[in-house]
Amino acid sequence: MSEKPFRIVVLISGSGSNLQAILDELHVPHGTGAECVLVVSSHAEAAGLQRAEAVGVATQVVPMADHPNREARDDTLAQVVAEADPDLVVLAGFMSILTANFLGRFPDRVINLHPSLLPSFPGVDAIGQALQWGVKITGVTVHFAEVEVDAGPPVLQEAVPVRYGDDQASLTARIREIEHRLLPAAIRLFADGVVTRDPGDRRQVSIGSEGELG
Ligand code: GRF
Repeated sequence: MSEKPFRIVVLISGSGSNLQAILDELHVPHGTGAECVLVVSSHAEAAGLQRAEAVGVATQVVPMADHPNREARDDTLAQVVAEADPDLVVLAGFMSILTANFLGRFPDRVINLHPSLLPSFPGVDAIGQALQWGVKITGVTVHFAEVEVDAGPPVLQEAVPVRYGDDQASLTARIREIEHRLLPAAIRLFADGVVTRDPGDRRQVSIGSEGELG
């Protein structure tokens, strides 16, 4: 393990169950060499803020309502996040579109969690979209965040079966279970320094020795 911890900043908007998974799996006392140094929420009432405070992680709130437009909000957000000097920024249920004003400040250092097998069902209510479509398989994607929403290249994906009779609650529960494992696993890969984007084709992401084989 390297001496300097791998610094993670997590952006949330709501319940923060995925933040909890990060805190449970990766945060300092677990000796993984990773540290969640800051949690930023778009909403002051986000329950996830209490999860961070409960383990002594610093929190900040950057509401859209305090800014004239999205770009101005993203300038503030980028400033707040940059002050925490992150190695990786994790969007874990951050329900607001980010512009280049934010993403341009942290190139190849922002990942997002999405509850479908992208490119299927991008945008809001991915789980409802999958149910409406009647697909038999959906899933979870952790991908690089880019200006186009839910369109950056995947880092990890895992399939989740949709069962006959599933409803929003039952499928959400099954997807959450996978998310809570996949997101910390992806962060660990970044902390281990084994995630690489192919400079010749930046949609291709290699994990560890995969890159040497291709
Ligand atoms: C997750 O399903 C994530 O995929 C989506 O928002 C949800 C956040 O849940 N982007 P939580 O706040 O981590 O419980």
